[in-house]
Amino acid sequence: MRKKLILGNWKMNKTRVETAAFAADAPKLSRLAKEKNVDIGVCPAYLSLETLVNKKVDLIIGAQNVSEFASGAYTGEVSIPMLLDLGVTWSLVGHSERRSYYNENDDHCNEKVKALLKAGMTPVYCVGETLAQFESGKTRFIVEEQIRRGLAGLTKEEAAKVIVAYEPVWSIGTGKNASVEIAQNVCHFIRELLVDLFEDEADTMRILYGGSVKPDNIKAYFAAPDIDGALVGGASLSVDSFYALINNA
Ligand code: PGA
Repeated sequence: MRKKLILGNWKMNKTRVETAAFAADAPKLSRLAKEKNVDIGVCPAYLSLETLVNKKVDLIIGAQNVSEFASGAYTGEVSIPMLLDLGVTWSLVGHSERRSYYNENDDHCNEKVKALLKAGMTPVYCVGETLAQFESGKTRFIVEEQIRRGLAGLTKEEAAKVIVAYEPVWSIGTGKNASVEIAQNVCHFIRELLVDLFEDEADTMRILYGGSVKPDNIKAYFAAPDIDGALVGGASLSVDSFYALINNA
């Protein structure tokens, strides 16, 4: 049985002071999550990671991105050893904003996924089609390419540690969440691909839906058989809204 996960992606929001304020209220989120038997976590901006670690919040803490290189002349990048030094063991990879604004492609994501796994970390690998691709019926083709290339070369044991997030680009930050039917269909398709690639290990891999998940729509996603949780942007920023997400899930 795959345990459900609600993972917040704060994107470029919250100063350290704002992060500390969230952390002060985080115990009530952890208590509720335990009660409801869901895992919860947040991916803040790099500068807020240490704030959350120091506040000893009982949340999974992840980065939003990471370099595939361990060190060297890569201006502006943050490495896996730097995250591990803080005790941060999760990272998003290939969020659509990284793909579209910073030109990250599947092969680049694959390097990051492999580097994270080699370090014993948990990659949350994001996939999803654009509006134009959705409208021209290319969703499966695009997602298959992203999965096959992004997770290429992993052993079954490594794959078992990966979390996949399906986030249709047209639903991110737009308020136009994908219908549960669409989300379930694509997550089921992803599950079949994972079975094809990694056989039995695919059973333990969590697949999240992301894109305008809110307290008032999360419940329906959680009822879908192939959706193991949610990657949430806007609605994860306030403690009250995060609390409602857990409560309603
Ligand atoms: P949203 O963002 O919930 O604000 O749509 C989701 C994401 O980008 O992960």
